Amino acid sequence: MAMINGYGSHPFYLLMEKSGKSHGVFLFNSNAMDIILQPAPAITYRVIGGILDFYFFSGPTPSDVITQYTEIIGKPFLPPYWSLGFHMSRNFFFRYGQTFEDLVQVYNRTIEAGIPWDTHWNDIDYMDNKDDFTLSNNFKQLPEYVNNLHKNGMHHIIILDPGIKSRQSNGTIYVPLKDGLDNNILIKNSAGQPLEGKVWNDIGTVFPDFTHPNATQFWKKQILNFHNIVKFDGLWLDMNEPANFVNGDFDGCLSFKSGHWESPQYIPGIVGGHLNYKTICMSAIHFAGIHYDLHNLYGLVETISTHDALSEIMNTRPFVISRSSYPGFGHYAGHWTGDINSSWDDMKQSITDIINFNLFGIPLVGADICGFHHDTTVELCLRWIQLGAFYPFSRNHNGQYMKDQDPAALGSKVLLSAKKSLNTRYYLLPYLYSLFWKAHVYGETVVRPLFFEFPSDNNTYGIDTHFLWGAALLILPVLKEKNHHVYVYLPKDIWYDFYNKTAISSNGNYFVITAPDDTIPLLIRGGYILPTQMPDLTTKLSRKNHFELLAATKHNQATGFLFFDDGKSLDVWKNDSYNKVQFKLANNTFFSIVEKNNCIDDNFVLQNITVLGIKEGLTNSQVNGIPFKGYYFNKTEQVLYFKMLNLDLRTPFNLTW
Ligand code: GLC
Repeated sequence: MAMINGYGSHPFYLLMEKSGKSHGVFLFNSNAMDIILQPAPAITYRVIGGILDFYFFSGPTPSDVITQYTEIIGKPFLPPYWSLGFHMSRNFFFRYGQTFEDLVQVYNRTIEAGIPWDTHWNDIDYMDNKDDFTLSNNFKQLPEYVNNLHKNGMHHIIILDPGIKSRQSNGTIYVPLKDGLDNNILIKNSAGQPLEGKVWNDIGTVFPDFTHPNATQFWKKQILNFHNIVKFDGLWLDMNEPANFVNGDFDGCLSFKSGHWESPQYIPGIVGGHLNYKTICMSAIHFAGIHYDLHNLYGLVETISTHDALSEIMNTRPFVISRSSYPGFGHYAGHWTGDINSSWDDMKQSITDIINFNLFGIPLVGADICGFHHDTTVELCLRWIQLGAFYPFSRNHNGQYMKDQDPAALGSKVLLSAKKSLNTRYYLLPYLYSLFWKAHVYGETVVRPLFFEFPSDNNTYGIDTHFLWGAALLILPVLKEKNHHVYVYLPKDIWYDFYNKTAISSNGNYFVITAPDDTIPLLIRGGYILPTQMPDLTTKLSRKNHFELLAATKHNQATGFLFFDDGKSLDVWKNDSYNKVQFKLANNTFFSIVEKNNCIDDNFVLQNITVLGIKEGLTNSQVNGIPFKGYYFNKTEQVLYFKMLNLDLRTPFNLTW
């Protein structure tokens, strides 16, 4: 139970009952509140405004609850394929004179090290005096740098803070301020003047009112103007709680007559003990009402405007990551968990965070890999990059003054760990992307806790040290210093070691699994087929490689599917412009069912199938009725390999042995 407010508000819970059944409750209310768990068991809501609009989701499985919840709040967006690659960012802030050169150095050493990587990010250092939509003299070469990234099949993201400079200075007109005033879309104080607070710049900050019907046009114009200078591919929305370095406004909300909004009779557990602490005045006026009611919606409405503006400007699937969020947010964007410490505790906590956000309908989520505040260590970063390779949104980001922590900066151990785990991520991207499609269409989780798959096994309910991708891939990160193994509970099932293919048959027992420095333990659950693709240095390249299928059998059966499209068009689901293939393995037959075959512009060739858990050798095999010799049975591993099948996945195939 949180006693203080976080970056976002999600008044939703999911409960597991003793019977193994699950239900969920959502209070659709944007006001400040306490939610208190009572021992009874019972739950108390103390809400200081709005209406009591409760939704009950009857499950009965936890997955059903999330599907029902996202039916109400909106299903997750389908991210562009490239955004599932690895991202690198850092804050060079206050390291004057090293800015652009640092960026280039990171690029050079990462490329030289051969680390799979798709997107380079820029924090506020690129801005002139830390003002949105400006380019600092130190970053004059950024447009050219971004063009080069594009030539190499990579992408670029910039940060935007919602607050914009509040006063014109230096005799030059700051267009965002002028437009904000001209269009009358800034949040106001009670005197009808733009409310002035302070974020990063030295002068002061006004805040666009994204509830205003003209705000999206205003925002789109600023984004477009800057996009004409730097061809970024997506936007990173920060400080949008909204954060403010003064409490309320420059004069502490004194200009407001309605003091009761600032200090209501009851104040829920909140950092700083009052509602306008490090944010704007509660009595500030928006088009849609007062900030007291709208505070928790600010990040969401900014994200919707940004999402809509980007889709129009780029005419491709928009990519937005935001710090603040609210129910329904996942329909538009993804989330990173904000400023955490470079500590073992915070690394562990990130697992709970990514699980929670998947329950909130925001599957594209990740924490700052290797941590943000404080210097990381080689051992922590080595393990964190392994875990981070399995965050749905995988980004290494770092705080000001901290030592470099991009994977190539910390020596060979971190480098090896990064390469191995990121190559594995890229190998598994078709599976991950297929899970995102399921989330988009059915509202399922991408990352899920074990109890989602084993709701009747109550040993799984408290597990927050390992997690699943979908139903089939169990990720078991090392979370303790000097450990070279994980000690884990495995629910009753057959699990296969991803690396050495050994089968572990669990009756609901604890197991020790070794984890050398460069390895994150991964298990594949029997009964599932995972689509994969040979990894490459970018997703642009890996998408061109052949596909493979990894089938983990349970009682000689397995199923799976692949969703694939061009990875970037808007509305592929609505427009039917995608491929979807089901795979089934039953006894000695492996076949595909082509459900949709409308995306033609990518390589769609299946070369290899690996079948785990095969007890007996074979004497022949046939592909579509024709004898096929390219198989090999490894008796010790109990694995059957089919190589160089050269099958077009658009046509159904049938493999027998
Ligand atoms: C905030 C963000 C952090 C960013 C910094 C500077 O603290 O959470 O990620 O680096 O601002 O923009």
